[in-house]
Amino acid sequence: MTKHAVDDLFADDPHAPDAFALGAQALLLRGFALAQADELLRGVAHVVQEAPWRHMQTPGGQSMSVAMTGCGPLSWVSDRRGYRYAGLDPLTGRPWPAMPAAFARLARQAAERAGFVGFAPDACLINRYAPGARMSLHQDRDECDLTAPIVSVSLGLPAVFLWGGTTRTERAQRVPLAHGDVVVWGGVDRLRYHGVLPVAPGQHPATGDCRINLTLRRAR
Ligand code: SIN
Ligand code: FE2
Repeated sequence: MTKHAVDDLFADDPHAPDAFALGAQALLLRGFALAQADELLRGVAHVVQEAPWRHMQTPGGQSMSVAMTGCGPLSWVSDRRGYRYAGLDPLTGRPWPAMPAAFARLARQAAERAGFVGFAPDACLINRYAPGARMSLHQDRDECDLTAPIVSVSLGLPAVFLWGGTTRTERAQRVPLAHGDVVVWGGVDRLRYHGVLPVAPGQHPATGDCRINLTLRRAR
């Protein structure tokens, strides 16, 4: 598999290569999760039974457009007190559901493919984007261990990923993400700004009218 620059990206080109370098240590793996997509979505359904979707509040008091839940020993939460990882789901008061084995396995394989051997996530944030939902540019920097990469899996409706620099002002590239795509970033690219443009309305056979994103991290 060859690495190509992001400028070569054509979402609808069936002959497009399956690995694109988004940075020295950041890789888009097109279709990497396709074979496991159904299993991953069953895992999401299972998690949601115990830890329902919710719209968290930002520290500024806004309700996020993306609905979230999580699994694993820790998951990311946001409220008026700030952003952090928590071992208990604030909505239910119970520990987060266990991370489905398929999540951790896929994350380890994708990380390894991108050069990060032995990735063992202890947190998975699950994002659900209804049409119009978006995520503004941010860094993933609430994790204690910044030597571990981030593995991000896209399922269902497509989206445009914003891939910026290590400063907020650097111009972000637009990267189309489709069902089964996985992005891995770590090392020198670990603190790159990223976000998601508003998801367009549509229907996907795997998820219906939404996009699901799994973000696997080593938080502790
Ligand atoms: C995130 O940064 O948490 C989500 C990224 C995505 O939905 O692709
Ligand atoms: Fe993020």
